[in-house]
Amino acid sequence: TLSFTHRFQPGSTSGAAPLLLLHGTGGDESDLLPLGATLSPGAALLSPRGQVLEHGMPRFFRRLAEGVFDEDDVRRRALELGAFVSQARQRYGIAAPVAVGYSNGANIAAALLLLQPEVLAGAVLFRAMVPLSQTPVAQLKRKPVLMLSGLADPIVPASKSAKLCSELSNAGADVTHTTLPAGHQLSQADIALARDWVAGLP
Ligand code: MLT
Repeated sequence: TLSFTHRFQPGSTSGAAPLLLLHGTGGDESDLLPLGATLSPGAALLSPRGQVLEHGMPRFFRRLAEGVFDEDDVRRRALELGAFVSQARQRYGIAAPVAVGYSNGANIAAALLLLQPEVLAGAVLFRAMVPLSQTPVAQLKRKPVLMLSGLADPIVPASKSAKLCSELSNAGADVTHTTLPAGHQLSQADIALARDWVAGLP
């Protein structure tokens, strides 16, 4: 059996990149399936459940407080997620996925991009912030990344999304970072921008 509780929906559109769906705190493996189907109709969807529980709420890594991460746990859990993706690719016969992460799920996707760039073909990061205070040395080789932030997000300060954007860019990723007039919740504009961006992937 694979190392994460997950759901997998096979793709029906050949050529569409599989999506790795990573939920926010308190979500689960079913949460983002509708979002994935909206962003890339017909794409294979791989959706794990975070293995850390915070007061019963699944997450992808431990935090000490809101916005204060247990960075050893971030590193360890990102590598576990990378191993799961490799297992799932073999089991289901899919290509390297594009991560679609929201909040805590976006933060683990960012850590995975920086620690094991070969696992992901790209990423859509909704409401992400810098996951590690020491930037790993990564070669992102023009990997496409879309970051969508909220101007009025009470959880993610602009400085922490800007820092992630510059770390990914410095590591060679091809980052588009847009800040929307929104809070931490996703808005219709997030969905529309992400859908257009995914449609334009090579
Ligand atoms: C995190 O813990 O990853 C961030 O604070 C976002 C969240 O999950 O609320």
